[in-house]
Order: sequence, then structure tokens, then C-alpha cells
Amino acid sequence: MSIWAKFIQYYKPYRWLFLTDLLCATVVSLVDISFPQVLYWLTHNVFTRPGEEIKPVLAVVAVGMILMYGIRYICQFYITTWGHIMGARMESNMRQDLFDHYQRLSFSYYDRNNTGEMMSKLISDLFDISELAHHGPENLFICTLKIIGSFALLLFINVKLTLILMAVTVGMICFSVYKNRRMKAVFLDNRHKIAGVNARVQDSLSGIRVVKSFANEDLEREKFCSSNLQFLESKVSSYQVMGSFHAGNGLFQGLLYTAVLVSGGYFIARGNIEVADLAIYALYIGIFMNPIDVLINFTEQFQKGYAGFKRFMEVVNTIPEVLEKPDAVTLAHIAGHIEYRDVSFQYNENTEVLDGINILIEAGKTVALVGPSGGGKTTLCSLLPRFYDVSRGAVLIDGKDVRDVTLKSLRNAIGIVQQDVYMFAGTVRDNIAYGKPDATEAEIIEAAKNANIHDFIMSLDDGYASYVGERGTRLSGGQKQRLAIARVFLKDPKILILDEATSALDNESERYIQASLERLSK
Ligand SMILES: Nc1ncnc2c1ncn2[C@@H]1O[C@H](COP(=O)(O)OP(=O)(O)OP(=O)(O)O)[C@@H](O)[C@H]1O
Ligand SMILES: [Mg+2]
Repeated sequence: MSIWAKFIQYYKPYRWLFLTDLLCATVVSLVDISFPQVLYWLTHNVFTRPGEEIKPVLAVVAVGMILMYGIRYICQFYITTWGHIMGARMESNMRQDLFDHYQRLSFSYYDRNNTGEMMSKLISDLFDISELAHHGPENLFICTLKIIGSFALLLFINVKLTLILMAVTVGMICFSVYKNRRMKAVFLDNRHKIAGVNARVQDSLSGIRVVKSFANEDLEREKFCSSNLQFLESKVSSYQVMGSFHAGNGLFQGLLYTAVLVSGGYFIARGNIEVADLAIYALYIGIFMNPIDVLINFTEQFQKGYAGFKRFMEVVNTIPEVLEKPDAVTLAHIAGHIEYRDVSFQYNENTEVLDGINILIEAGKTVALVGPSGGGKTTLCSLLPRFYDVSRGAVLIDGKDVRDVTLKSLRNAIGIVQQDVYMFAGTVRDNIAYGKPDATEAEIIEAAKNANIHDFIMSLDDGYASYVGERGTRLSGGQKQRLAIARVFLKDPKILILDEATSALDNESERYIQASLERLSK
């Protein structure tokens, strides 16, 4: 799907709102271009009459114009309020889609990309898109209508003078288009650079404890400084382009006024045009100058929004590497017979981590994998819940290839305590209940007891409602591990993988958990 087709899709739920918005925009434009017409009509048909006849006409004009501007008020109100609301809703839909897609993407995507950059796409890029979504079509519409309308009405007054004005305006538009190309490039660069700043901040702050332990604040400062400077440079070059762009347009405006005055004066001298009509021209310049200004600002907004949307689409178009087959079946009634059949795996093209591995684990059995660090134990475990797909061979549960079953049923069947456990910002209870969101309090306590962490939790001021800190910073390594174990105990999966899950525990805790495990696996 082309980038624009995708963009237009986001308007679909709001098509009526959008159409009403455009209708209101039409009314506003019509009202705006009609004022010089009223003046033209008055100077040619009314003000030429005797004073007594003028007065009653003025009363009608007053009522008519107040009515007209009253309607304009309502329409403008609608455009500003509901137009923006529509933009915000579209932005919110896009943000949701992006987030949902982030959730779908595979481990490999997260191996390659940076969280700070992803956040940047989710927050600042999308804001520009919302502005574009709302102002874009509306501005284009209003401005085109006003410019074409103004020129059409001017043609009625004097064709030659209008053509001269048109020539200057076309020159102005060509200039804008040319400058626009440059702006497109610099705004995309801006986006990349600010994402780089976000990435740096995210990395540095997540690792703040390491930074401090090495007293490397200065090093981090330097790294940040370099990203920050790159962004600054990118902004500087964008302002340079913008500067020459805006100034150039100002010059064209001046040329327009000059053209009207000089050629208008020339036509007056030759008796081709009346003085009053020249005033109408000057009024119209004011009227179509404003939309040209708006269009020019719009091009900037457009470039920003476009750059943002392009980055958005890059993510949304990334196909997760681990995909569910359309005819995937639910993995049910699991006995737990696991087979690795001639499995090879590589993270990158050139380095083979696993090569022709054959393992058979019978249902109900507990096996331990022993091997050197970096030997591929964690990798081997990751293949079972399909965090990655095998490069060759197959992984089977009860004789079914894991690639033939739904991801949800597969992962529901497997509990895994990862080597580096992760705690979500929240309470102890939330973190345990992550294994089974609808768990009862009793079940949570039971799981905590089995993981030998209940007594510790009770010793905290707020018990199960205690806050664990971001990533569980308020807990010790062993406490985090035990919470993670409680989490999978609560999930009570058919297949359990412990990836060095007790590495941070003392012997006593480990023995205790071992005993719980034996009890639970019966
Ligand atoms: N996401 C990844 N992308 C690329 N290479 C990876 C990735 N994860 C691990 N590797 C590489 O794969 C190899 C196996 O790593 P793995 O984590 O499976 O080892 P391990 O046996 O679990 O080691 P340890 O006992 O230290 O936990 C290592 O050489 C590692 O560098
Ligand atoms: Mg490992």
C-alpha cells in the first residue's frame, strides 16, 4: 500500500467530520473572497447614485454582512475545534497501531533497534502527523479555493493586470516547490537526530547505575553532547533553508505589490482601468497573499508530518520475523514431549550458534543443560517458545512443529524465567500477577510461598502493595529472581524453562525452590 493510501485510511472513521470540516472551510473562504466583490459592486452600482438612495442600501448591506460574518464565525469555530479533535483522534489511532505493532515485532527487531528511538517515533513524530492530518487538507482546500476564486474574480475586472499577477504568483510557487525539496531532506534528518538524542538519554539513564559505579558521568556527558550537537547542527541547517525560503517568499510578495502598483498605474495612465478597481486589486492581493502564506507554512508542516509518517510506516511495514501461520492450530492437551530435531540456528548470517542439535526430552522429565558461557544454552531455550525461529531443522512439542501452532497457545504452555529477570514498575503483587492477570490473592500468596519470597514480602512496609521501583531497583538480585519464579509458578505452565533462574540465590533458597518445583511438577 502506498504511503498516501495508508494515510487516507486514517480519515475513514472520521469521514463525516472531515467533510463537514471542508464544507465549513468552503464557507469561510467564500465569505473572505466576497468582501472586495461587495466593495466592487458598491463602487460601481451604488456609490454612483445620489446620497438619499445610498442610505437604504447600506442598511441591507449591513444586515447581510453581519449575517455572513456570523455564519463565518460558526464555521471557523467548527474548523478549529473539531478539525483539531479529528487530528488528535487520528494521531491517537496511529499511536495505538504503532504500539500494537511494536508488541507484534519479534525479538530480532529489538536486538537491532533502540528503545529511545522507538519512543521518539511514538511521541514526537506522531504529533507532527496529527497537525498535518488536520491542517493539511483543510489548508490546501481553503487556499486553493481562495487563490483560484480571487483570480477568477480579478479576471472580470482586468485580464492583463490579472495575468501579470498570475505570472509573479507562479514564479513564487515554483520557488516554493524548489525550496521544499531541500526542506524535506533536512526535516527527515532532524527527526533522525532527535531520535538519536532520545536514544542516548534512554541508554544513559537506564544504565545510570553502571555509569555512576565507574564514575563515568563525564564520558556519558560527552556522548550525549555529541548527539545533542548533531541535532543542533541539523536544526541549524533546517533554519538556514527555512530562512532563505521565508525571505524569498517575502520578496515575491513585494514583487506582487510592485507589479500591481506599477502595471496598474500604467493601465490607469492609458485609461484601461479605473482607480477604484486598482484598490480592489490591492485588496485581493491581501486576500490571496494570506493563503499563499498559509500554504508556505503548510509546506513546512507537511514536510515535518511527512517525515514523521514515513518513519511511522517504516515500523508498521516491518514484518515480524516470527509469524503465525494462517492455518496454525491451538496447542492443547500438552503432554510435554519435546524434541529438537537437527536444529541449527544463527542470529546473523555468518555466525552459527547451534549446529545440528538433536535433543529428546520425554514428558514429565526434568533435564539440565550444562555448557560454557556463550555456548548457546539461552539460545536453545529461546527456540522453544519461538522467540526466534530455527535456521534449519525443527523444534517439536508432542510431535507438533512449534511453527505450526498459534503463538498464544504455544507461549501459554511455556513458562520461562529468563536469565536477566525484568520487573515492571508497579507493586510486588502486580509483578507476580503478571503470570496470571486474573489470579486471586490466595493464588498469588501461594505462588510467593512456593518461591520462598512470601516472608520477605510480608516484612515490607506495604506487603504485597510495595512498590518495586523501575525494573525492580528496590529489590536484591535474588529477590527479583524469586519474584520472577513466583510469577511462573502462578502461571503454572505445562513446560517450565529456568534459565539460570536460581543463580543469585543462596543454597537454602535454592533447595527450597527445588522442593517446590518437584511438588508442582507432579
Ligand atoms: N540477540 C543476539 N544477537 C546476536 N547474537 C547473540 C544474541 N544473543 C546471544 N548471541 C550470541 O549467541 C551465542 C550464544 O549465546 P547464549 O546466550 O545462548 O549463551 P549461553 O550458553 O546462554 O551463555 P551464558 O551461560 O553466559 O548465559 C553467544 O556467542 C552470543 O554472543
Ligand atoms: Mg544464557
